[in-house]
Parts: sequence; C-alpha cells; structure tokens
Amino acid sequence: MTKNVADELAGLELPVERGCPFAPPAAYERLREQAPINKVRLTSGGQAWWVSGHEEARAVLADGRFSSDKRKDGFPLFTLDAATLQQLRSQPPLMLGMDGAEHSAARRPVIGEFTVKRLAALRPRIQDIVDHFIDDMLATDRRPVDLVQALSLPVPSLVICELLGVPYTDHDFFQSRTTMMVSRTSMDDRRRAFAELRAYIDDLITRKESEPGDDLFSRQIARQRQEGTLDHAGLVSLAFLLLTAGHETTANMISLGVVGLLSHPEQLTVVKADPGRTPMAVEELLRYFTIADGVTSRLATEDVEIGGVSIKAGEGVIVSMLSANWDPAAFKDPADLDVERGARHHLAFGFGPHQCLGQNLARMELQIVFDTLFRRIPSLRLAVPMEEVPFKADAVIYGVHELPVTW
Ligand code: HEM
Repeated sequence: MTKNVADELAGLELPVERGCPFAPPAAYERLREQAPINKVRLTSGGQAWWVSGHEEARAVLADGRFSSDKRKDGFPLFTLDAATLQQLRSQPPLMLGMDGAEHSAARRPVIGEFTVKRLAALRPRIQDIVDHFIDDMLATDRRPVDLVQALSLPVPSLVICELLGVPYTDHDFFQSRTTMMVSRTSMDDRRRAFAELRAYIDDLITRKESEPGDDLFSRQIARQRQEGTLDHAGLVSLAFLLLTAGHETTANMISLGVVGLLSHPEQLTVVKADPGRTPMAVEELLRYFTIADGVTSRLATEDVEIGGVSIKAGEGVIVSMLSANWDPAAFKDPADLDVERGARHHLAFGFGPHQCLGQNLARMELQIVFDTLFRRIPSLRLAVPMEEVPFKADAVIYGVHELPVTW
C-alpha cells in the first residue's frame, strides 16, 4: 500500500497547490486515509516520510530525536536549490533551524517578551492601531478598498515595528522583501530578497548597539552585554526571524479570516452576537486555513518508531499540519468551519520546542482586528465574487494577494 501512495505523490512539490481555496489538496485526504505516515517521493529528488495524522504529527514535533537543521545532509528540502542551500549554510542559523541546547539558548532570552501577561500591556496600543487604519478606511470615498493594503498588512507590520524598534517608515522595503522570500518567484529573486533584508537588519542592529532605544532589540543587546555574551550575528539572526515571521503570517491570517467569516455568514452572526466567542473563532480559523503548512520538516537523527512506522536515522520527515488539522480523528467534520468548536489543540502554530514564539501576539492581533472590523463596519462584504479573489495557491505561506471589500 505504501508503494502506491508514493507513486501517487510522485513529483510532490510542497506546498501542494490548494485546488479549492477552503480545503487541503485532495491528495492529502487520500494519503491520510491510507495511513497517517507514508513514504513519498519529492520533486527535489529522494524520498521522505509524510506525516498527516494529528497524533503522529504531535509525536514527531515533540520528539527531540528529529532535527530542524536544514543545513544537514538529507534534510527534506523541496524548494531550495544548491545556491540557496549554500547561502543558508554561509549564514549563522536562525532559531527555527537549531536543535537541543543551542535552540534553548537562543529562544530562552526572548520568551519573556511574548508571554500573555507581557503582551496584555500592548493591547490598548494594538486597539489604537487597528482603529486608526479602520478610521482611514471609513474616511475614504473610494470603493472598493483592498483590505490587504488597508488593514491586514499595516496592522501587524506597525505592531511588530513598535515592539522590535524598527522604523515603520521602512515598511515598504521589508514587507516587499518578506513577501518575495515566501513566494514562489525565482530562487534568484528570493536569494536577493534574503540578502538585502539581512543587510538592512545588520545595519539596524549596529545602530542600536551604539544608540539603544526602548524596544525588544535594545533590551536584548543590553541583556547580552550584561551577561558578557554580546553576539552581533546571533542578534541579527533573531531580528531577521522576528521581523519576517512577525508580520507576513498574521497579515495573511487576517485576510483569510475575513474571507472565511464573510463566506460563512451564519458563523459571522455567531461572532457578531458575542465578542466573547472571538478567541474560539480565531482558533477555528487558524485550524481551518493552517497557513504555514509544509514549514515543519525534520530529519531523524536516530532510529525512531512513531505510530508503528520505523523511521531510520538520516531519513527526512515532512509534517503536514494542514492535513493534521483536518484529521477527523482530532476534529469532527473538519471541512465545516465551526467557530464554536473547541479547536485549541490545532497545530497551526506547530507543536513542541519550536512551537511559534509569537502565537500569543498573533492571537491578540487577530481577535482585536475581527472584533473591531465587524463592529465598526457591520455591512462589510466582498466587492468581487469569491471565484475572483486571488488566493496565494502556490505560496509558502497561504493567503490572498488582494481582498477587495466594500460596505
Ligand atoms: C498567524 C500567525 C502565525 C503563524 C500561523 C505562525 C506559524 C508558526 C509555525 C508553524 C512555527 C513552527 C515552525 C517549526 O516548528 O519548524 C512558528 C515558529 C516561529 N514563529 Fe510563528 N507564526 C505566526 C506568527 C508569528 C509572529 C507574530 C511572530 C513574532 C512576533 C512569530 C515568530 C515565530 C518564531 C520566532 C518562531 C520560531 C520558534 C522556534 O524555532 O523556537 N510567529 N510559527
């Protein structure tokens, strides 16, 4: 049976394009039904294990015998060519690609910045930012408005800029480079975007080392000085990751959340009737769209047995969080968008030691945006038929390119 499954996905290139914008690719379900862990062949060559069951996905992601280090031989890479791998290997690693003690040492100093308690202090400012961009939307006579440019992108961009101490005046620069890095344009363009952004951040951190401000990066610099461990390259890597991970993902999720609710009016009614339900609705929208599918790949460093399957040291494993989040064993009738289901155990933020560091911030932004947008513009609707909404079917992070709305 496993052999047939491998044949079925021959030439698999991740992320597989979503045929229907509101469902995983059909192949995902067929694979999961056959087995929660299968062997698949990759377009980039070689084979890897494909994990699509919810329980099995959690088991892999929580297991320290799987490495996240993309620079290791045998790591299942689908989109990186040799030159990009070379670029990756020439840079200090990002936290995302570290393992064990090295990973804990990079993550520990910043955890405190992203606790629910710490972030609660940002809530009023985030509310102001959301209100500001909605004021601008309401002030314009122009219709339709592209929600991506008017709200989805500027809100998380401005929030992350203020938190990190990045000048918001540079937002066009870093937004365009980040979008390029997670799109499926040529590898040359993606490499150039990576190099330009890295140089920009290097310069920013250098300036903060001599002129600190009241922001996360300056606090990290002060902390490392105090501990006598100041590591410029490490700070640049951290800054690069936080700036890129901190806006593009949330922006896509804001747009998709609005599309999801507008196209399921009965669910929107539930949310509008009681804002107390918004946090649960946000979890369901995160599960339903699982925008960062395919980013959680691993390499077995030892022989491991998961769900009755024996994975050998040196074999690659791709955890499909989208498939796991649509596993009926974990979520009844997964194709139904049900804002009242308790979906908190979804894997949209990953699981285990690398689970998203910014998840509490993302949740808070999403909750504030949805509550405020539908309260202040209750008649908000799509300005084009759903079939004309340009979904990012082929991007590493799922979303929409544009979202024309009116009211
Ligand atoms: C809806 C929004 C978001 C989604 C869906 C998302 C998704 C993810 C996922 C799936 C991972 C795990 C990757 C892995 O296991 O290999 C991750 C890691 C990470 N995310 Fe997010 N993210 C979001 C927002 C954010 C924000 C707002 C920030 C920063 C402010 C952020 C910072 C990070 C960092 C630093 C990591 C690496 C953690 C580590 O390696 O220990 N993310 N994210």
